[in-house]
Amino acid sequence: MHNRIRELLREKNAILLAHNYQRPEIQDVADLCGDSLELSLKASKTDAEVIVFCGVHFMAETASIACPDKTVILPVLNAGCPMADDITPEALLKRKAELPGVPIVTYVNSPASVKALSDICCTSANAIEVVNSLDTDTVLMTPDRNLAKYVATKTDKEVLFWDGCCPIHDRMTREDVLEAKAAHPEALFMAHPECSPEVLELADKIFSTSGMLSYARKSDIESFIVGTEEGLLYPMRCDNPAKKFYLAWEGLICEDMKRTHLADVLRALENMEYIIKVPEAIRIPAFKAVKRMLEISVSPNSDDSSER
Ligand code: 13P
Ligand code: SF4
Repeated sequence: MHNRIRELLREKNAILLAHNYQRPEIQDVADLCGDSLELSLKASKTDAEVIVFCGVHFMAETASIACPDKTVILPVLNAGCPMADDITPEALLKRKAELPGVPIVTYVNSPASVKALSDICCTSANAIEVVNSLDTDTVLMTPDRNLAKYVATKTDKEVLFWDGCCPIHDRMTREDVLEAKAAHPEALFMAHPECSPEVLELADKIFSTSGMLSYARKSDIESFIVGTEEGLLYPMRCDNPAKKFYLAWEGLICEDMKRTHLADVLRALENMEYIIKVPEAIRIPAFKAVKRMLEISVSPNSDDSSER
């Protein structure tokens, strides 16, 4: 299946992008694995005519927003994101009316229709940089309250937040982390900013997924407790066979990220399904917000490639 997928990718002038949380066999067949920022940057720059996105719906939408002339394919249509479902354009319009002059910073983990109402997008890799780039004292961050609260600790601005979250990261408790730390007292604890403030207080380092990969590669430390979705352990272990990686809590599994199997990718390429196309009325304003973010961002791995 791996070989047939690679053959079809060549025939169709297609590129296969995979998020760091995807299954190992999907990461192995991909042209590029990365975090949301790296994948958005790659999608915006590729010469390929077709982008096959192994991730979740909002990621394929972001690729469609950045590349209206390319065919963007999401192999499994119901690979969604509960955090993106925590916000609607109607609810955001209501909140916007209460906050005149306050810019809206929207995490890419959101529907295209919400990006279209936002001033700028951000990812977990560039959120602090994005907020600091704005010229107001107050900003509203949507939809992740945990990312917003984390950014608030790193900026002088007042950061208002939307009350959404990633249930996978948010469910991990302080006690879960303390248990992992007790089991591996020598290990450094890295956490994703989608974790709750109580968990982030215990973190030695806070990074996006590719930020964690990059740090694990460069650091002299030999063991790590990883506070993000379990898919990240695969590239970490491949990159660092002599180091030890422990998942911070067994519940860190995103069902949506695991919906895509090799057979789905093969079928997707054979049938050219499912095409994700954001309508122009939404795409044009959403593109403004995405482009503004991409212009001020560098990839967390820009100094060492995550191309496979
Ligand atoms: P990053 O890979 O950008 O850190 O995102 C994490 C995530 O939850 C994606 O759904
Ligand atoms: Fe959404 Fe969380 Fe899954 Fe990422 S890990 S796709 S934020 S539910």
